[in-house]
Amino acid sequence: MASGQEYTGLQKDRNLEILLSNIRVCRIFADVVKTSLGPLGMKKLILMELGDLVATNDGGTIIRWLDLLKISPPTVKMMIEAARAQELEFGDGCISTVLLIGEFLSKAENLLKLGIHPATIIEGYKRALNKAIELLREKISIPVSISQQEILKNVIKTAIKQGDAADAEYFSRLLLNATIKVLSGDNGKPDLDLDYVKIIHVKEGYLSDSCLINGVVLDRKGLDPNMPKKIENAKILLLNVPLALHQAKFIEQSIKALLTSPKHVQEIIMQRKKMLEGMAEKIVATGANVIISSQNIDEIVLGYFAKNNVMAIRWANKFDLKKISHGTGARIISNPEEATAGDLGFAESVEELKIGDDKMIIVRCGSQSKVVSLIIRGSSRVIVEETEKLIKKGLYSARSVIRDSRVVYGGGAAEIDLSLFLKDYAYSIRSKEQIVIEKFAEALEEIPAQLAKSAGLDPIMALTELKALHQGGNRTFGIDVLNFRIGDMREAGVLEPASIKENIIKTAIETALMILRIDDVLTTKKKIKERHDDKELLEELHREARKLELRLGRELRRDYEKVAIDDTWKWKPIRY
Ligand SMILES: Nc1ncnc2c1ncn2[C@@H]1O[C@H](COP(=O)(O)OP(=O)(O)OP(=O)(O)O)[C@@H](O)[C@H]1O
Ligand SMILES: [Mg+2]
Repeated sequence: MASGQEYTGLQKDRNLEILLSNIRVCRIFADVVKTSLGPLGMKKLILMELGDLVATNDGGTIIRWLDLLKISPPTVKMMIEAARAQELEFGDGCISTVLLIGEFLSKAENLLKLGIHPATIIEGYKRALNKAIELLREKISIPVSISQQEILKNVIKTAIKQGDAADAEYFSRLLLNATIKVLSGDNGKPDLDLDYVKIIHVKEGYLSDSCLINGVVLDRKGLDPNMPKKIENAKILLLNVPLALHQAKFIEQSIKALLTSPKHVQEIIMQRKKMLEGMAEKIVATGANVIISSQNIDEIVLGYFAKNNVMAIRWANKFDLKKISHGTGARIISNPEEATAGDLGFAESVEELKIGDDKMIIVRCGSQSKVVSLIIRGSSRVIVEETEKLIKKGLYSARSVIRDSRVVYGGGAAEIDLSLFLKDYAYSIRSKEQIVIEKFAEALEEIPAQLAKSAGLDPIMALTELKALHQGGNRTFGIDVLNFRIGDMREAGVLEPASIKENIIKTAIETALMILRIDDVLTTKKKIKERHDDKELLEELHREARKLELRLGRELRRDYEKVAIDDTWKWKPIRY
C-alpha cells in the first residue's frame, strides 16, 4: 500500500491490500467497457488474428473478445462471466452489468478507505439490493399489456441501440410485427418463442431492404433444375428419413451379378428404380405437392416428383423442418410408408427466389403465420452481422416485456429514481450501513452519467439537473442521448423491460460481493506458489494489474472514431 496513512482500521492488513488490488483491476476493466454504453456509445475496433475486422459497441461481442485475450486476474474473469450470464438469459445489458460491478466496487473502495470493514459493506449492499428490487417493482416500474403495441415497439427500439433514428424506427416496426405473429402462451400467460423467428443474412443491398416474411425461408437452397419453381396452395409433407435405398447394398449386388451373371445387372438396376418409384408414388398419393426432407432424396425419386409437378427439397435443416411444421401444421414423418393426407401441412405458396447472390426457398404461410423469417440485407458481412446482434436484442427485450409485463423509463431515468428513493431509505437507518446504501445509490448514477458523456453533455451538470427534475416530480426525465439533451423519456419513447434492469443490478451486486469477499489469492501457478512472503504476492498482483492496464490500453487503443471525446484510454498513472 502506498502511504499507509490513507486507511484506518485495517490499514496494515495485507488481505485488505489484496482486496484493493482486485478492485483496481476490476475498475480498469469496467472503464474500458463502459464507454460503449448507449446508442451513441463508442465502438471498439476488434482486429481478429485472421485479419477480420469488427467495429462494435455490442457488449456481448466486446466481452467475448476480451475473454479471448485470456486476461489473467481471476476477478476480471468473474466480471466477464457475469456479463455473459446476463447476455445468455436476457440478450441485453452486458455493458450496464460490467459498468455497475466496477462502480459498486469503486464505491466499496471509498468505504474501505474510510475504515469501514468489508463485512459491513457486504451487509449494506445486500440490504440496498433488497430495497432496490422492492422499489423497482413497486414504485418505479410501470405495468403494461401486450396490447399496448406502441410501448412494445419503443422497448424494441431502445434495445436495438441504433444511433440512426430512421433505421431504428424501421427495424423496431419490423420486429414488432414479428413479435405479434409469433406470440404464444399457455394458461393466459403470454410468451414469445424465439425459435420461430428465423434470421437470414444477405450480403447485398441496403439495411432498408431488410424484410419480414410470413413463413420460413430455407437459405442457400436451390431446387433441382427439373423441379417446378413455384407451387401455389402447397400441401407439404415433411420427412426426417431418406427417400433412398441402401447404396452400398446395391453396389454389392451389382458387382456380384457382374461377376456371376452379367445379364442380371440390368435387372437389378430396373428393380431398384421400380422400388424407388414405388416409394415416390406412395408419397404423391397422399396429395402432397411439396416434399421437404432433412435427409437425402434419391435422384430417381426426385425425377419422379418433378415429372408429377411435385417440388422436393432435400437436406433441409432439421430446425427449419420444425419451423415449417409449426407454421403449416404438417407432421414430421419418420415412416414414409405410413404417410397420409392427414400428415400434410398447408401453405399459400412455396417458391424458389434469388435474393442477392443466393437462391432461397420461401414457404409462405399467409398473414396468420405463427412463424416468421427476417431477411437482413446489408452491403457487407460486418454490417449484416452487427445488425443481427441488435435485432436479437430487440427480440429478447420484447420477450422480457411479454413475460413480465413491466417496463421502466430508460436514459438513466429509472436509475436516478432508484438512487433518490434509496438515499431516502438510507437516511432512515442508524448504523454504518447508511453510508453503504448511500454509496450503492450513487453507483447507480454512473449509468446516466455515462449516457450524458456519450451525448457530449457535462455529466455533473446533467446529473444535478436530472436529480432536481426527479425531486420535483418529473420522474420520466432522463438523458435524451439522440437529441444530445435532457428530455422526457416518455415522449422520446425510451423504455426498457423492468426485468432486465432488475437482473442487471442483481447480477452486478452479486458479482461485486463475490469479489469483496476475496482477501487472498491461492494459485497453483508455480511462479506464485514459490513466493516466500506476502510482499511477493502483492507485487505479483500489482504487476498483473499493471499488465492488464497496459494490455487493455494497447489492445483497445484502436477505439473507433478515435479518442477525441473518449479519453479513457489514456495512460493513467498507477498509485501503489
Ligand atoms: N435513445 C436513447 N436515449 C437515451 N438512452 C438510451 C436510448 N437508447 C438506449 N438508451 C439507454 O442505453 C442504455 C443501454 O445501453 P446499451 O444497450 O449500450 O448497454 P447494455 O444494454 O448494458 O449493453 P449491451 O446491449 O451491449 O449488451 C440503457 O440505460 C438505455 O436506457
Ligand atoms: Mg443494450
